[in-house]
Amino acid sequence: MDRTPVRAKISAVGTYVPPRLLTNSDLEKMVTTNDEWIRERTGISQRHLADPGTATSDLAAAAALDCLQRRGITATEVEVILVATVTPDMLFPATACLVQTKIGAAGAWGFDLSAACSGFLYALQMGAKLVESGAHKKVMVIGADVMSSIIDYTDRSTCILFGDGAGAVLIEPCSDGEIGMLDYIHEIDGSGASSLYMPGGGSLHPPTIETVNAKMHYVHQEGGAVFKVAVRKMSELGEKVLDRNGLKASDVDLFIPHQANERIIMATADRLGLARENIVINIAEYGNTTAATIPLAINTALVEDRLKKGMTILLSSFGGGYTVASTLLRWEC
Ligand code: UT7
Repeated sequence: MDRTPVRAKISAVGTYVPPRLLTNSDLEKMVTTNDEWIRERTGISQRHLADPGTATSDLAAAAALDCLQRRGITATEVEVILVATVTPDMLFPATACLVQTKIGAAGAWGFDLSAACSGFLYALQMGAKLVESGAHKKVMVIGADVMSSIIDYTDRSTCILFGDGAGAVLIEPCSDGEIGMLDYIHEIDGSGASSLYMPGGGSLHPPTIETVNAKMHYVHQEGGAVFKVAVRKMSELGEKVLDRNGLKASDVDLFIPHQANERIIMATADRLGLARENIVINIAEYGNTTAATIPLAINTALVEDRLKKGMTILLSSFGGGYTVASTLLRWEC
């Protein structure tokens, strides 16, 4: 194995969202809510939902194939598949195994990673480390969730927020002169576990008639509590990662955050002192797709022609756990 230090970069992006839409006006017919409240309090106008029978691995595989096509390589070149998700097709086998077969990545290994809305950024670092170690040259990192499979569509406090989707990036070694991944800070805080969780279906509360009747297989969230910690922690870790790399807010060309609530994104950006025109927001179209929000937002920046080679990018997330992540990178593709 070559022992020369290797830097890792994102070399390609792919996405997939299911075509079916759930709009705010659709939700007005399902729960006591209204379009104005949802848009003002969250920034969301619509979400994409998977049809029954469509699983997280289907969305993840479609995003991975899009990524491979945009990179111009075949699935057999992929060495590792990491899938961040809280809605695996099944508890086991890992969704990564199902994706491997669906895309035809013969010879790849991989696994799932559970870190809710920070799952993609955690998986991104795992993928980068596998490349930086010299162990692998092509790692597919996917964030994918079918949140509609764990949402109670009679609970207006959660059903207005979430959507389904998938995003994938390929991690490869940098070419000469490229920088790629710069730094990251991750934190977890299990004292927040019961503020955002799905209580049923695991070893603590295996599925029974009682757990289903008690709606324990749905997302439960204390929205207000999560909101405050999300803003505080995302800005705290963002500031730390910039500081220790000798960077100021004005050095950030684009801020691409987890899309949970537009007000959380704006409050975090304001605390960090980031310019508003440098924030990527696509929550109006997709809602909160959990592990998929950041790769979907990276793609939005590409589609809007805002992401250019050499730019300094700050990625930021907060989610159930609690989990927090802040990633600094140089865009290289
Ligand atoms: O991605 C993982 C991390 N998750 C998050 O970051 C989510 C964080 N939390 C949030 O985004 C927000 O807290 C929510 C969007 C969930 C809620 O917004 P809020 O501004 O915190 O509203 P609230 O829960 O304080 O509720 C305000 C009022 C309440 O009525 P009263 O008690 O003032 O009469 C709610 O009952 O709004 C009411 N309300 C609604 N009204 C219309 C709550 N949900 C709705 C709704 N439509 N869907």
